[in-house]
Amino acid sequence: MSQLEKKLKPIVDAINKGKKVTFFNGAGISTGAGIPDFRSPETGLYANLAKLNLPFAEAVFDIDFFEDNPKPFYTLAEELYPGKYAPTKFHYLIKLLQDQDSLLRVYTQNIDTLERLAGVEDDYIVEAHGSFARNHCIKCHREMDNETLKKHMHDETKDGIPTCETCQGYVKPDIVFFGEGLPGRFFQQWDEDCDDVEIALVAGTSLTVYPFASLPASLGKKSLRVLINKEKVGDFSDNYRKSDIVILEDCELFAEQLSSMLGLRDELEALVEQ
Ligand code: OAD
Repeated sequence: MSQLEKKLKPIVDAINKGKKVTFFNGAGISTGAGIPDFRSPETGLYANLAKLNLPFAEAVFDIDFFEDNPKPFYTLAEELYPGKYAPTKFHYLIKLLQDQDSLLRVYTQNIDTLERLAGVEDDYIVEAHGSFARNHCIKCHREMDNETLKKHMHDETKDGIPTCETCQGYVKPDIVFFGEGLPGRFFQQWDEDCDDVEIALVAGTSLTVYPFASLPASLGKKSLRVLINKEKVGDFSDNYRKSDIVILEDCELFAEQLSSMLGLRDELEALVEQ
């Protein structure tokens, strides 16, 4: 048995006994799809924003900054807008666990909607940092449909910045910016789920953005906590529990290996190739 197989065995045993998995996802699960994460030193978005002339990298997702200057966000939105990228093996693993009734919930910080695209149903997904699914004016809150938003993004007379047709305020997708609150569903669903988390798979996140980053720490001792990440992060390094499983590997390799051990590898490959 390889080192990785040894680490995965308790997870496989728990799933085979009927325990359910809750995912806590970050940008690292989508790097395999070609979407950069935020904080990786050379490849991350924040290290590559020089061309946007920002006072600090995170300003691109800062609501006060956006109110003054939405251009950098819309320059980046052009690259990040859903539709260009396909789900990874890790996303399809989530779908396969859903299909065999081994999924409790997917808490995701990602705005790429790849969990949905992989076939995970709405009820299972909590988009903690919102998504591009809807857009609102930041002044009068009127909604703008996606088609109009995209038209504005490509309109040179507007400098590519969508503006409200009622009050001319800037329009922003419902992504949670720094300085904004998380969606109510995040708190409601967590209230319902927090005591029921049996297997917590924390994947591809630096666990630096709160309140999301506090979820693994708030789990009770009965939850089996697993980190799948390129580096040790958050509670897994600060408050390591004896029962924690830390897998410092690529998410894709994890998905391949776990699906093999669960007898789901052929289904996984078929989904990737569809
Ligand atoms: P980060 O970029 O902060 O962290 C990504 C983590 O994934 C890092 O620890 C990487 O080492 C790891 N990683 C990258 N590729 C991986 C791979 N293939 N396999 C395993 N691990 C990998 O991204 P998040 O934690 O998601 O907010 O960032 C949290 C929030 O900060 C985001 O939701 C975003 C950002 O500002 C908003 O957009 C509102």
